[in-house]
Amino acid sequence: MEQTLTATHDTAAAWAGIGSAVAHMWHQKAVPSSVVGVLSAFLYLGNILVLHITTPALFSAVAFNSSQSAKIGTQSLPAFNYSGYSPSNASSIFFDVSDYASRTLTVLPSILGSTANPGLYFGTLYDILDDNLGTGDVTTNATGFNITCGYLTDVGVQFDAQSFSGWLGSSAGQDFFVYPAPTGVITIPGIVSTTGFPDSLIVYTTIPIVDSRGTQSPLTTLDPPFNNSVSAIQIFRCSQTLVNQTAVVDAQSNKILVVEPDILKTTSSWGPYSGPDQYLSYSDMLKPPNPLISAWSLWYSSIPQSDVPINQQAIESLSVAELYLIQRFNLHPPSQNGAPSNVTLHDLENALSILVASMFYTLGNSPPKHGTVEYANNGSLPYFGIQNVTKPVSFLRGTAMVTQISTQGRLDLSIISVSVGLTASVALLLLSLPTSLVNAGSGGDSHTPIGGTGILHSIWLYRNHPELELLLEQVEHPTDQNLREAGMVQTRLVGAQIRHRRYESS
Ligand SMILES: *[C@@H]1O[C@H](CO)[C@@H](O)[C@H](O)[C@H]1NC(C)=O
Ligand SMILES: *[C@@H]1O[C@H](CO)[C@@H](O)[C@H](O)[C@H]1NC(C)=O
Ligand SMILES: *[C@@H]1O[C@H](CO)[C@@H](O)[C@H](O)[C@H]1NC(C)=O
Ligand SMILES: *[C@@H]1O[C@H](CO)[C@@H](O)[C@H](O)[C@H]1NC(C)=O
Ligand SMILES: *[C@@H]1O[C@H](CO)[C@@H](O)[C@H](O)[C@H]1NC(C)=O
Ligand SMILES: *[C@@H]1O[C@H](CO)[C@@H](O)[C@H](O)[C@H]1NC(C)=O
Ligand SMILES: *[C@@H]1O[C@H](CO)[C@@H](O)[C@H](O)[C@H]1NC(C)=O
Ligand SMILES: *[C@@H]1O[C@H](CO)[C@@H](O)[C@H](O)[C@H]1NC(C)=O
Ligand SMILES: *[C@@H]1O[C@H](CO)[C@@H](O)[C@H](O)[C@H]1NC(C)=O
Repeated sequence: MEQTLTATHDTAAAWAGIGSAVAHMWHQKAVPSSVVGVLSAFLYLGNILVLHITTPALFSAVAFNSSQSAKIGTQSLPAFNYSGYSPSNASSIFFDVSDYASRTLTVLPSILGSTANPGLYFGTLYDILDDNLGTGDVTTNATGFNITCGYLTDVGVQFDAQSFSGWLGSSAGQDFFVYPAPTGVITIPGIVSTTGFPDSLIVYTTIPIVDSRGTQSPLTTLDPPFNNSVSAIQIFRCSQTLVNQTAVVDAQSNKILVVEPDILKTTSSWGPYSGPDQYLSYSDMLKPPNPLISAWSLWYSSIPQSDVPINQQAIESLSVAELYLIQRFNLHPPSQNGAPSNVTLHDLENALSILVASMFYTLGNSPPKHGTVEYANNGSLPYFGIQNVTKPVSFLRGTAMVTQISTQGRLDLSIISVSVGLTASVALLLLSLPTSLVNAGSGGDSHTPIGGTGILHSIWLYRNHPELELLLEQVEHPTDQNLREAGMVQTRLVGAQIRHRRYESS
């Protein structure tokens, strides 16, 4: 187009790069030849620079933790393992589990009162999670063993002088032995349990068990009194109800955090026994839901004996469960001065609940690691042999939902980069419009033979425009400043009409 030579020079030089464009913007201060041309070159290249920066900044990869729920298996309550039994001999599992209990429950004292066993929490057994990738807290099912005791209304105790010189009790058609406890050299006060029913436990005591009102249950007279000191005992029967609970446990350690609802009793009052009172055969008892749990009293009476005899006469010893009760309540014989003399009913029920839960925990989780030494009689000589212990107890299975955390990646769109890039692109479009329109409007002239602004092109132009020699003043020192001043002549280098006019600046 027709313009000054300096404008052509400045515009062409500005297109060489952003640095050159900046320099020529500066040069416009001295000789303002083509402010618009240089500025548009500067803006065009500047916007391309902006695009170069914003394009890689459009996306950023971000790592984030995502949590998903996953269903996992749990180990729930212990139950009979019937493998190896057929329907016809299934009830023999009761004898096998009794036998198994008498061996494995030797570890009960180390379980009782310990809170280090995942799955056991006082009187509650909660489901243990299988190995999993979860984190945080998990809700699982739990079962509370709620023991409730009531006095017997039909109990009778008679001294049996003939057969064993002791007292024999009976209730609901079941007989049981009564060994009053405080006596002799070893003076153990008595909370002693006995059974006769698979689903409930008969307990008698020589020390008072009082309820929250401070009252005792009706006493049963011993006639004659035992060693002239114990003339009456409390006899009662305890039954179990299962309480559905939920426990919150740690996904990895299986440690319990919360269990609801609480089964710990804080009050109680004596009433007549109201639990199950129906004598069932073993095959009747094999009914669902969980005969192992229902027949709790059978395993309770299989708890091994300690080496503390009940009294001087009896061959029987206190079981480790009874010893636990004596230790837990700090029981002393009545003859001892200042000894605590009574126990509250709810404390006893809570203690029995812990005993039963610990017992089932042990039956399920602590099989004997080695064979046990057994007394055997093979017909000729009695001998001791090692017997392998088979475990007829397995576990029910449950489910729980755990939360698994995993690290994932995503591309984040940068809204700033996108807006800046979009603005730059629109600016580029607008800046290129004039050039496109000029090219489109110049018709046949648009096919200019000049493809650059190098020195060869310059010489060619000079040779084809001899008038430039007249137009351009000779410059002594070819500094940028001087050349640009000299080039302020209006001309058109390519195309038909060439008008020459010296550009006069004011
Ligand atoms: C029960 O009976 C089956 C066959 O009916 C037999 O294989 C199994 O050994 C028996 N189990 C017991 C404990 O007697
Ligand atoms: C609890 O047990 C019930 C019935 O067995 C089952 O439907 C439920 O999914 C269990 N819940 C958990 C948290 O294990
Ligand atoms: C009865 O009690 C006395 C002391 O109170 C004791 O010396 C004696 O051995 C006891 N007798 C029996 C049979 O337990
Ligand atoms: C406890 O849950 C089991 C199964 O989930 C159900 O059969 C039983 O009735 C529930 N017991 C109580 C007391 O809600
Ligand atoms: C425990 O059992 C008794 C008697 O069946 C019942 O009254 C009581 O509500 C039960 N306790 C819980 C916590 O369910
Ligand atoms: C239980 O013991 C307390 C103190 O140890 C005593 O005050 C209370 O009278 C006793 N109750 C019974 C029924 O013996
Ligand atoms: C009984 O056991 C003893 C000692 O192990 C052995 O010497 C004897 O042969 C056995 N008798 C029978 C009948 O198996
Ligand atoms: C006890 O088990 C061991 C291996 O577990 C076996 O070698 C041994 O024969 C078994 N003993 C009896 C009496 O079954
Ligand atoms: C039941 O016992 C058999 C053999 O005694 C054993 O192979 C099986 O795994 C046990 N089942 C469960 C669920 O523990």
